[in-house]
Amino acid sequence: MKQKEFSSYNKIGKNTVISESCIIGHPNSKDLVAKVKTAGVIIGDNCVIRSGTVIYSGSKLGNNVTTGHNALIREGTNIGDDCLIGTNTVIENNCTIGNGTRLQTGVYVPTNTQIGKNVFIGPHTVMTNDPTLGRVRKLYGPTIEDNVSIGANCTILPKVKICENAIVGAGSVVTKDVEKNSVVFGNPARPRGKSDEKIKKWLAQ
Ligand SMILES: CC(C)(COP(=O)(O)OP(=O)(O)OC[C@H]1O[C@@H](n2cnc3c(N)ncnc32)[C@H](O)[C@@H]1OP(=O)(O)O)[C@@H](O)C(=O)NCCC(=O)NCCS
Repeated sequence: MKQKEFSSYNKIGKNTVISESCIIGHPNSKDLVAKVKTAGVIIGDNCVIRSGTVIYSGSKLGNNVTTGHNALIREGTNIGDDCLIGTNTVIENNCTIGNGTRLQTGVYVPTNTQIGKNVFIGPHTVMTNDPTLGRVRKLYGPTIEDNVSIGANCTILPKVKICENAIVGAGSVVTKDVEKNSVVFGNPARPRGKSDEKIKKWLAQ
């Protein structure tokens, strides 16, 4: 397997497969200009890194992590065990992703976003971190707590906290914090029920 490594300090675990055309240990722009060797990437055991994935130096992936094609993971981002990072998903710098979390195709995770354990994020959901749309440079990523499910094509506004076990319906625009165990959907997303009841109904179908 061919891969391009910028850093000599990458640590790659046992049975991890890195496909062709991956870049592992890409420097941030400062280090790229200075042409220095960087800290490298730590990747755990039994990972599958699919072709086109770019992982920046200073990020860490746990065990059993799979990336789709062309995933991008920026510096300072920490991904737990058993995670899926879908094709064309972009995770910017300084994010945390907990164990067992699955980001499907084309998800966008901006700088300073915290995502808990066993979270599911549907395709093409976009999280945002800049309340002033580039006018004032202060970034506040959203917080997504454990066991949250977010449908396809949602937009999550900056600073929003989606609490434990909540469900966000497809196509929602989440403008405010979401209570734990609740179901919300719509634009703007409004409370529509309890997630435990919804899951019970789905299991009985
Ligand atoms: C939110 C959701 C979980 C609700 O499921 P549900 O309770 O079974 O919803 P129902 O199908 O019974 O719909 C109830 C009502 O809400 C509306 N509704 C359901 N989901 C909606 C959504 N995401 N946005 C706007 N309205 C929605 C329905 O049109 C229906 O309206 P009506 O009473 O006027 O006919 C589900 O609709 C959803 O969005 N699932 C996400 C699917 C997804 O994105 N998966 C990702 C992986 S592909």
